[in-house]
Amino acid sequence: MRIINVMAASLDGKIAGHSLESDRERRAYGFTNQADQDFVRHQLTTADAVVTGANSLRASQGAWQIQNQKGRFPTWVVLTRSGLDPALRFWGQDGVDKWIVTPDPHLSIPVAPNNRLIVTPPADNPAPFIAKQLKDAGFERVLLFGGGGVNRLFYEAGLVDELMLTLCPLMLGTPNASNLLLPPLTRPVFFRLESSNQNENLVFLHYTVHK
Ligand SMILES: NC(=O)c1ccc[n+]([C@@H]2O[C@H](COP(=O)([O-])OP(=O)(O)OC[C@H]3O[C@@H](n4cnc5c(N)ncnc54)[C@H](OP(=O)(O)O)[C@@H]3O)[C@@H](O)[C@H]2O)c1
Repeated sequence: MRIINVMAASLDGKIAGHSLESDRERRAYGFTNQADQDFVRHQLTTADAVVTGANSLRASQGAWQIQNQKGRFPTWVVLTRSGLDPALRFWGQDGVDKWIVTPDPHLSIPVAPNNRLIVTPPADNPAPFIAKQLKDAGFERVLLFGGGGVNRLFYEAGLVDELMLTLCPLMLGTPNASNLLLPPLTRPVFFRLESSNQNENLVFLHYTVHK
């Protein structure tokens, strides 16, 4: 199984102006462009699952419903401590398998055949446990969609294989902006640049992680 971090970041390393800013809003003010959205869509066609934090889901309200090459929607794996609003559009996306991953054994989620609650055991970092669940489910290609705290868990555990980073031509500089990676890491992570491409003023960087 490979875990691929797919992110678009500003030149000051931010991924959103605030934690509930949607992709659509970012597109509207010029953070990303059509080519970047198309790139993400293409990545989703190769994916068995997507791992993301609760704020990212709150911002988008739902999963990207893009069928993969196996004719299925990727399973959407959402990390949350406080739970997700039952009114979210997400819960109505019947074709999407949903894993809600939480340390809280009392968290409740809507009952539906596609909904699965996964309670992480007490540990500083639940990423190894989550990765084992993903592997046991037979997933081969998993996209890590952030945000920064969720990315940190997977980098810290040495579980990320690749980074697809779109470098976007702006600096946000705002205090509440979300980070590509929320500190701390106990050691630096090093990357090897595999390819770079340009579209308009955006740069598409493909890295593999030194292991
Ligand atoms: N530019 C990009 O490529 C990109 C990519 C992804 C996201 N984004 C944007 O970034 C923003 C959100 O990012 P963010 O960093 O602010 O937040 P986030 O990572 O999406 O969500 C943070 C939340 O994840 C949950 N969480 C984190 N660690 C957890 C753990 N160990 N166990 C269980 N739950 C855990 C918590 O949920 P609870 O609050 O429920 O406790 C936490 O508040 C949105 O605007 C989104 O659109 C941009």
